[in-house]
Amino acid sequence: MTSGQTLTSPVLTFHDGHTIPQLGYGVWQVEDAVAEHVVGEAFRVGYRHIDTAAAYRNEKGVGRAIASSDLEREDLFITTKLWNADQGRETTADAFEASLENLGLDYVDLYLIHWLQPKRGLYLQTWEELAKLKESGRVRSIGVSNFTIEALGEVERETGVLPVINQVETHPYFQQDELRAYEESKGILHEAWSPLGQGKDLLADPVLGRIANAHGVSIPNVVLGWHLAIGNVVIPKSVNPERLAQNWTALALELDAEEIAAISALDKGGAGRIGPDPAVSDFA
Ligand code: A2P
Repeated sequence: MTSGQTLTSPVLTFHDGHTIPQLGYGVWQVEDAVAEHVVGEAFRVGYRHIDTAAAYRNEKGVGRAIASSDLEREDLFITTKLWNADQGRETTADAFEASLENLGLDYVDLYLIHWLQPKRGLYLQTWEELAKLKESGRVRSIGVSNFTIEALGEVERETGVLPVINQVETHPYFQQDELRAYEESKGILHEAWSPLGQGKDLLADPVLGRIANAHGVSIPNVVLGWHLAIGNVVIPKSVNPERLAQNWTALALELDAEEIAAISALDKGGAGRIGPDPAVSDFA
């Protein structure tokens, strides 16, 4: 078996010139008290890219893990996100400062608007505030999460500032082909949340099982290998140290064109969606 210790993540380049490790560790639903331990474990395995959010309520735990690690800040890539209730001209900067303080950092690598919130209609002014934060140097790169093609087009038209990345639900049952093609045409990277389909039916899929057996790896490895092969930034979540380490070994997997095509054929379109639809979801 390949040792996870010797693997390093590929790095992708944003249109603003900064880079992002393609395989990261997402801490959605990881309790703050647990986050310090598991993020520390992720660092030991080799992960350098951590994805949190104000709404996850674990920025402090992530910050404690960063503070107690002996890794250089420059070698880490930290993402956090602006929560829905904090969108707006007057509130965005304060919410960002609170996140920085929670993390114990003087900059983050990537700051995202967490959800579009179409009915509230604050995303354009919020985006302009993120652009100011980037100018201030406290954020290296700015992007969005759960944005539609229409909203990405509007942001570009109205503000002239293009997000570097869009983080949305993406997995083999919900592949987001149209959105991915649009982003690619604009030079926006695609980032997958719930890349393993939240550990549900997807991990019992017979096609994935067959490919996993052929390589002597797990189904999650095959799914992560597919994300990496098609160019997605991917942030699998696990609170289990063994699975955290197993997911990192997906970096050693090489799927051939036929296997990638077989996985691409699993797409169920909108029927494969697990989480909320960003085009219609407004929640605080
Ligand atoms: P756990 O945290 O107990 O490991 P997603 O990233 O798509 O949201 O999926 C996360 C879910 O998948 C979590 O429930 C997580 O459970 C589970 N999971 C993560 N990695 C693996 C793995 N290698 N094998 C099985 N389940 C996994």
